[in-house]
Amino acid sequence: MTELLQLSQLTPLAQGRMRLVFEHPRDTASLIKVIRPDVIERRWGSGAAWYKRRRRYGRYTSYLREIQEYIAAYASHGMSLPFAQKITGLVETDMGLGLVMTAVRDASGQLAPPLSALLRNNLFDDQAQDALERFFKELLGCDLIVADLNLGNMVYAHDGIRGNHFVLIDGLGVSTVLPFKLLSRSFNRRSKRRCIQGLRDRIDRTRLRLQNEASGLPKL
Ligand SMILES: Nc1ncnc2c1ncn2[C@@H]1O[C@H](COP(=O)(O)OP(=O)(O)OP(=O)(O)O)[C@@H](O)[C@H]1O
Ligand SMILES: [Mg+2]
Repeated sequence: MTELLQLSQLTPLAQGRMRLVFEHPRDTASLIKVIRPDVIERRWGSGAAWYKRRRRYGRYTSYLREIQEYIAAYASHGMSLPFAQKITGLVETDMGLGLVMTAVRDASGQLAPPLSALLRNNLFDDQAQDALERFFKELLGCDLIVADLNLGNMVYAHDGIRGNHFVLIDGLGVSTVLPFKLLSRSFNRRSKRRCIQGLRDRIDRTRLRLQNEASGLPKL
């Protein structure tokens, strides 16, 4: 029997609404993502709708979507894209199947902060804005399909080759039942433009809210 990688006693580095993110215990260049136990119980536990319990890939459907998108990008560009997550494998852990990927880091070697944290900590400066505009251009210029462009899914990274840049670390792939984005390149591009506009609006709203909070004005 394969030995399960033990994660449940470790402290996660980060978490989202769906997953916990651990540093790989045997490889500090990698992260392992597992589905949060509370989410598993709520969504796939005994109280969940029967059709959810019986879905063939169960709680791992999102892994499949992300792996497919990684392969699609590799196939169409002959390499992985520097502004999108690099998936390196799957691993069996004591918290279920884990998705392994390259850890994206900032200039100090820490985990790169998500855009939400940059905004919250007033670190979204001109350099970061320029990097975000470059990221939007790159995203529109390729065939990558995006399901969820939220403020937590982009991290602000730094490396010797690209300098400061954003990387999409989650939310890739086709999530809709009707895969129009797969069938039509122009539909996909239009959809990405809408996502980017939505994100710009969210950035503006977040900045305004934080400014108001700092100046003691009532919440918007
Ligand atoms: N490859 C990575 N490199 C650096 N940080 C990462 C990476 N992957 C995830 N993170 C950090 O972990 C957080 C949670 O990861 P992720 O977005 O994959 O979880 P999720 O639960 O699927 O998210 P969501 O809430 O969007 O469903 C991210 O917001 C980011 O801060
Ligand atoms: Mg996320």
